[in-house]
Amino acid sequence: MNRHKGRMTRDGIRIHEAADFAGMHAAGRLAAQILDEVATQVFVGQTTGAIDAFIEARVEEEGAKSATIGYKGYQHASCISVNHVVCHGIPGDKKLKDGDILNIDVTVIVDGWFGDTSRMYVAGKLSRKTERLIQVTHDALFKGIEAVKPGNTFGDIGHAIQNYVEAQRMSVVRDFCGHGLGTVFHAPPNVLHYGRAGTGPVLEEGMFFTIEPMVNLGRPETKVLADDWTAVTRDKSLSAQFEHSIGVTSDGAEIFTLSPAGRFHPTYDA
Ligand code: MF3
Ligand code: CO
Ligand code: CO
Repeated sequence: MNRHKGRMTRDGIRIHEAADFAGMHAAGRLAAQILDEVATQVFVGQTTGAIDAFIEARVEEEGAKSATIGYKGYQHASCISVNHVVCHGIPGDKKLKDGDILNIDVTVIVDGWFGDTSRMYVAGKLSRKTERLIQVTHDALFKGIEAVKPGNTFGDIGHAIQNYVEAQRMSVVRDFCGHGLGTVFHAPPNVLHYGRAGTGPVLEEGMFFTIEPMVNLGRPETKVLADDWTAVTRDKSLSAQFEHSIGVTSDGAEIFTLSPAGRFHPTYDA
């Protein structure tokens, strides 16, 4: 049997076969299920380290593997990004305070396939302004997913997201992007969350990638802290992110990381 089934585009994007969708579905489903379960762990006074420990235990119980433990030296089963942290927040012993918003990002490996997804959560009470940031970020991800179908381009995805977010007077982070995935964590292409319609590689059935827009209430610029992971907004404004892993089908997208409990949007269980 050929281990490298499918083919590669000239941009180095793997075109997967019909049977590969089942592998991604299983991996995506477990990641999403763990994000459903972790909602019980988010409350005022809880530490992000304890939330991560819950995630690590659940990945292990399911006989899966964490993709992030050991990835480029990273040591945790999740990234937990609180308030002005844009992404790659390292779980630790800081306690959540009332009104804190956090992104929890989990990537698991099931039978060699990677499922990568993140959502927003709230500790305590959500303010109006913050609720809008979370809503706009959530909707921006779906604007991007709606642009996914064979014949459209990656630029169409970025354009749909940027256009929507900037019309809401918020900004799209440029310094981090989505990525191809499958039997590897990060593969071509870079999936930008901004851009011009009609530019970039053409989408083809069988491409697997993430869309994971980060949206700031203030300016888009970020900086990485001395720990070499934590990315924060330069202007200290609040930032939100949602991430799905998807596959291009004959007429649109299959979302591999849909919430089994229908709880992707955080304010549903508030
Ligand atoms: N899950 C992140 C992503 O969406 C990557 C985290 S890598 C880590 O691509 F090492 F920081 F965990
Ligand atoms: Co990702
Ligand atoms: Co992720």
